[in-house]
Amino acid sequence: MEELIALLKANGQAHLFPADASKADVERLGQQLLQLNANLAPGGLLGYIKRAQDLLAPQAGVDRFRGQRPTAARGERLRVNTPRFEEAEELGLREMPYVAFVLVAGGLGERLGYVGAKVGLPAQLTTNESFLKMHCDWIYAMQHHARVTSGDPTLTLPFMIMTSDDTHDAVMDLLAQGGNGSTLGHLADVTVVKQEKVPAMLNRHAKLATDPRDAFQVLCKPHGHGDVHGLLHKTGIAARWAKQGVRWVVMFQDTNALAFRGITAALGTSVRGDLDVNIVAVPRRAGEAVGAVCGIVGADGAERTLCVEYNQLGPLLEATTGQGDVAVDDGGHSPFPGGINVLVFKCARLVKVLAQSGGLVPEFANPKPGANNGDFATPARLECMMQDLPWLLPAGAAVAYTEMDRATCFSPVKNNAHEALKAVRATGFASSAASCESDLYASGRLLLAMAGCSVRTTGLPLRYFLGVAFEDGARVVLAPRFGLTVAQIRARFATPERVQISDRSTLVLDGDVFVEQLYLDGALFVSAAPGARIVIKTLRVVNAGGVLEALEEGDDDAAAAAAAAAPAERMRGYRSRGLESLSIHAPLPGDVIIAR
Ligand code: UTP
Repeated sequence: MEELIALLKANGQAHLFPADASKADVERLGQQLLQLNANLAPGGLLGYIKRAQDLLAPQAGVDRFRGQRPTAARGERLRVNTPRFEEAEELGLREMPYVAFVLVAGGLGERLGYVGAKVGLPAQLTTNESFLKMHCDWIYAMQHHARVTSGDPTLTLPFMIMTSDDTHDAVMDLLAQGGNGSTLGHLADVTVVKQEKVPAMLNRHAKLATDPRDAFQVLCKPHGHGDVHGLLHKTGIAARWAKQGVRWVVMFQDTNALAFRGITAALGTSVRGDLDVNIVAVPRRAGEAVGAVCGIVGADGAERTLCVEYNQLGPLLEATTGQGDVAVDDGGHSPFPGGINVLVFKCARLVKVLAQSGGLVPEFANPKPGANNGDFATPARLECMMQDLPWLLPAGAAVAYTEMDRATCFSPVKNNAHEALKAVRATGFASSAASCESDLYASGRLLLAMAGCSVRTTGLPLRYFLGVAFEDGARVVLAPRFGLTVAQIRARFATPERVQISDRSTLVLDGDVFVEQLYLDGALFVSAAPGARIVIKTLRVVNAGGVLEALEEGDDDAAAAAAAAAPAERMRGYRSRGLESLSIHAPLPGDVIIAR
């Protein structure tokens, strides 16, 4: 400890050890510093401070690209409802036995302002199931498909969850409750790994900040989701997966409700292009504050596909082309699509690059200038992002994007109601709990319409909750076991022209359910447990259904009702009230035929 303290004092950190500090306080601080020193690979605490001094220098972010030129990235635009999309899904399904999943769930969620792990929130209020349950259900359904197609009933798809101090206990609680009643119990290979926080710094000289509540503890903050690579390496998990025969590692973030609707097709494009890294992306408006996927040509002429933060893209384009990020189509889109933090890595390549690099992806600092004494407005730390792994690959590695429509892969919950309104004004997208729920139902309607069912997908009236638009159409939830792909969902309807769903309906379909003739004007919940099969030969359901009730603010009664609402309701500005519904559940293996 003495040695480390002496080194720190000699490297600009003497302020941590005032002359009048008690022995006990120095000992306590020393223990924390030793721990940080052990966690902060490579180079320990001093290595971190040295990197911070370089990265906190003015212009450091832009310097990253000095002498390099942006160009269109390599990639594919995969549109929904096209044969090419379905071909990609078909290829992806074949790879299912060889996939492992990584969820990065260490984020604090400051913009959402939710106390607790975001994965514990419901993605929609119709079934009120948590994001974590939804993710587990998807992996379970994919595992089931993999077992059937491989003929191996014991095959297990591995799943790693990265947590942080801010989320670990909440995630562990959710898992202990069985992922909120999910199929988690059937996922035999789930590993939770916690990322550690890193020291925050007061100024460009990387002077370490102390905790405002304790002058003898260094203030620490999250290091970003890029930690996932170092942890996959350090724990040996990635290498173990490769040995087990895993070919693809899919990484995704905590609250993107549509991520898995695009993952099978993304696996397909990884196979088709034999890609080392496949960056799932969406169309991005010019100037939109979303990381862009770019080709970057180095001074040696070699080209790489990289994710570039939007605040670096503008200056880089200005410097090289003389104009910023400008639209290239009538929709105002940039030629650089927006990465959505869904990434497919070729496992063997990942393991190799992790072994070579230790998994430390390039870090960056994002300090906000403060008052004139040279200190930042708030202490800053180094951060890193999981999509930056391509920086560690040699030029010539197969890195490409797969751009899909938002409706097939992206609707995150990031913003509270206030931030959501600002986001709508800036980008057209709220990225709030309400917009995510609205998008999830829209995705269900679209998939049913693509299967040939009669359900309205366009021209729907809009309702506004806390100022955010909500498409007031049928609330359709298609569980992953009902269908992983467009083709699997289509196969559920032998005669889709005989299936009709009104705008005010609620429909949940889960498991092995086949629908031949259905008229629905109300609420219908159908679920078949694993091994059971429900065939709806003919069914007419007309009932009061369910409604979304706005949580009004204003008069005392209404304000009290709003205050009594659950956090997931308050952040949406509405609650879901079931008035009347029909439930058909087949709990045991065997066929259930419905004809009424
Ligand atoms: P976000 O960009 O949504 O950041 O993270 P955040 O920290 O969760 O939310 P804000 O910025 O405070 O509002 C994208 C994904 O990366 C994870 C998040 O949990 C989310 O799944 N993440 C983020 C980590 O795992 N670790 C981190 O240090 C930061």
